[in-house]
Amino acid sequence: MTTRQKFIAGNWKMNASLPANAALLGALLEGLRQQPPACEVAVAVPMPYLSQVQQLLAGSSVRLGAQDVSAHDAGAYTGETSAAMLRDFAVRYALVGHSERRQYHGETDAQVAAKAERLLAAGITPIVCVGETLAEREAGATDAVVARQLDAVVQSLGAAAAQVVVAYEPVWAIGTGRTATPQQAQQVHAVLRGRLAAARPEAARVAILYGGSMNAANAPELLAQPDIDGGLIGGASLKAPDFLKIIEAARA
Ligand code: PGA
Repeated sequence: MTTRQKFIAGNWKMNASLPANAALLGALLEGLRQQPPACEVAVAVPMPYLSQVQQLLAGSSVRLGAQDVSAHDAGAYTGETSAAMLRDFAVRYALVGHSERRQYHGETDAQVAAKAERLLAAGITPIVCVGETLAEREAGATDAVVARQLDAVVQSLGAAAAQVVVAYEPVWAIGTGRTATPQQAQQVHAVLRGRLAAARPEAARVAILYGGSMNAANAPELLAQPDIDGGLIGGASLKAPDFLKIIEAARA
């Protein structure tokens, strides 16, 4: 993806089945055939469905994504999936550091950075997720928290930091129906953009997505903000008509 092209990525989380995936992607691809997208589109699917979704997406412009990756290359790591394995299924993007991984699996900033490194080494673009909890926002710590999360990755990647995608996802907005206002989101995106630019001039053009209850109704205003380059969509990516409307909103 050329940087700062609009980018809409779906995050299916742990919601999938063979028939549901076929129905969802059938409707999505049909919609995109009628109205070809003006932006990059990807879906991040659960690991067991990589092969099925790779086949369903073959010949389309929709890119395959994963939701996580191991911080290790190979070996005795039961249950883990390596970046090279993702590569075998033509995965183009993988989320790292999603707040659900940080919260439920204790992922640290250092592990998130290691995962991003593994992905880039395999030719896969990491979508580095950052975001503050409600308590952190209320304590006025939002900027410091997202800066810490981003810096860990930028510092460990060095010049390669310009090759990632960043997703700002306030934890209090994920799956809650409570979206950050376009102004709140833009403010944090500008902080992230400044941080990237200060570390590496070429990283100023990294795409920064917003995520957290983005839907067909609120997408146009969020996507109109100067530093919001796209969306990472959970719930609304599971309904083809909603996801298609968000993709359409990225046309402007
Ligand atoms: P949501 O999830 O759109 O359902 O809030 C976004 C995400 O967690 O990536």
